[in-house]
Amino acid sequence: NKSQAWSALFSEPMSELVKRYTASVDFDQRLWRADIQGSLAHAEMLAAQGIIAAADLDAIRRGMAQIVEEIEGGRFEWKLELEDVHLNVEARLTQLVGDAGKRLHTGRSRNDQVATDVRLWLRDEIDGLATLFVELQRALVELAAGHTETVMPGFTHMQVAQPVSFAHHLLAYVEMFARDAERLADVRKRTNRLPLGAAALAGTSYPLDRERVARTLGFDGVCQNSLDAVSDRDFALEFCAFASIAMVHVSRLSEELVLWMSQNFGFIDLADRYCTGSSIMPQKRNPDVAELARGKSGRVVGHLMGLITLMKGQPLTYNKDNQEDKEPLFDTVDTLRDTLRILAEMVGGIRVKPEALERAARRGYATATDLADYLVKKGLPFRDAHEVVAHAVKVALGRGVDLSELTLAELQGFNAAVGEDVFEVLTLAGSLNARNVVGGTAPAQVRAQIERHRARLGA
Ligand code: ARG
Repeated sequence: NKSQAWSALFSEPMSELVKRYTASVDFDQRLWRADIQGSLAHAEMLAAQGIIAAADLDAIRRGMAQIVEEIEGGRFEWKLELEDVHLNVEARLTQLVGDAGKRLHTGRSRNDQVATDVRLWLRDEIDGLATLFVELQRALVELAAGHTETVMPGFTHMQVAQPVSFAHHLLAYVEMFARDAERLADVRKRTNRLPLGAAALAGTSYPLDRERVARTLGFDGVCQNSLDAVSDRDFALEFCAFASIAMVHVSRLSEELVLWMSQNFGFIDLADRYCTGSSIMPQKRNPDVAELARGKSGRVVGHLMGLITLMKGQPLTYNKDNQEDKEPLFDTVDTLRDTLRILAEMVGGIRVKPEALERAARRGYATATDLADYLVKKGLPFRDAHEVVAHAVKVALGRGVDLSELTLAELQGFNAAVGEDVFEVLTLAGSLNARNVVGGTAPAQVRAQIERHRARLGA
């Protein structure tokens, strides 16, 4: 069977079912550009080291250029019996340029080849994702910039806690996405090492110049142990862990967008182009995009579980199990990329309803802590002040009014230290302004954060 790379030893062809079961070309063909890039760097080094002739290198370059054209033009014939992207490209190359094509695999194995391809491919995807994180953060920062004085209730336990600005709330997500971007940059460092030269597992007897190949391909260095180079996929695990954390942040933000758009909150409106209607209820505008972003976090976390489980029982070195690393990794990249892109767009189209946010902040006694702090400044120990205010809230609740709607005399009834100036701290703006500590919600602090982010994001 001439089409198989190991034909001589085998006395019967592979069964059709096994062929389909073991082939990966249906999904790993998306690595073709990295595969060709890696092969060209390898061939160039082989020629420089005198392992193949300059004429062979020329032929390989010529053949590969034609293959690129064929693939880009949709004219390349992918063959299942050639198993994967690597054998498909190599077989076509040999068809086009003859013996030079057969010399390409000198000092190389598919084991170090596939590890190289995946790392190259992922590195480029990482660079694309880094840009999307910048765009998402910018969208959030610019939305925040218009709302440093827009008051909303901050929640703990989903109960009204203290007033915060809408800008401050959005910037919390900017912090999360900034850390995700940092994690991504860190994953890149360990992804960007060259496995090529490890060959099947033990290294190779040819005088390869691995550093040269690393430089050509833009890797930061070479993997230092051949067994590790062909068998480990922890760069992919790390990537999926990073992606899972990022998608959890996306999911939390999406959940809030869904809640905020619900009639019971009415804090924001999402642009029509991110919503869908109902086929039965004419009044509906559903935040499907945000819901899907929340839902898709599940599959990304699932891919991390799949991949980490894939690795746990594998003895050194390469095992075919590793072929199963690709679909989860590819889908993780696709899902995260699309989600970040659409979220950045959607955030830009959010319409904020400041009156509704403020109305919500007025319900639930959000300034109760401010009243307690006020009494502390008048000399009460904090625990006593806490007790006094709890009593005041109970009375106000019973009457269905806010603390600021009690009269001075009534407030003084709870504690004699209360003076005319109490009403300043009971306002929402007063409450925000009071939290003038680094990282606090005071508009001055939040404006400083916005400037820091703008400088950092180059906006
Ligand atoms: N398609 C394989 C993979 O994705 C390439 C490496 C195969 N190597 C081997 N010796 N069977 O892992």
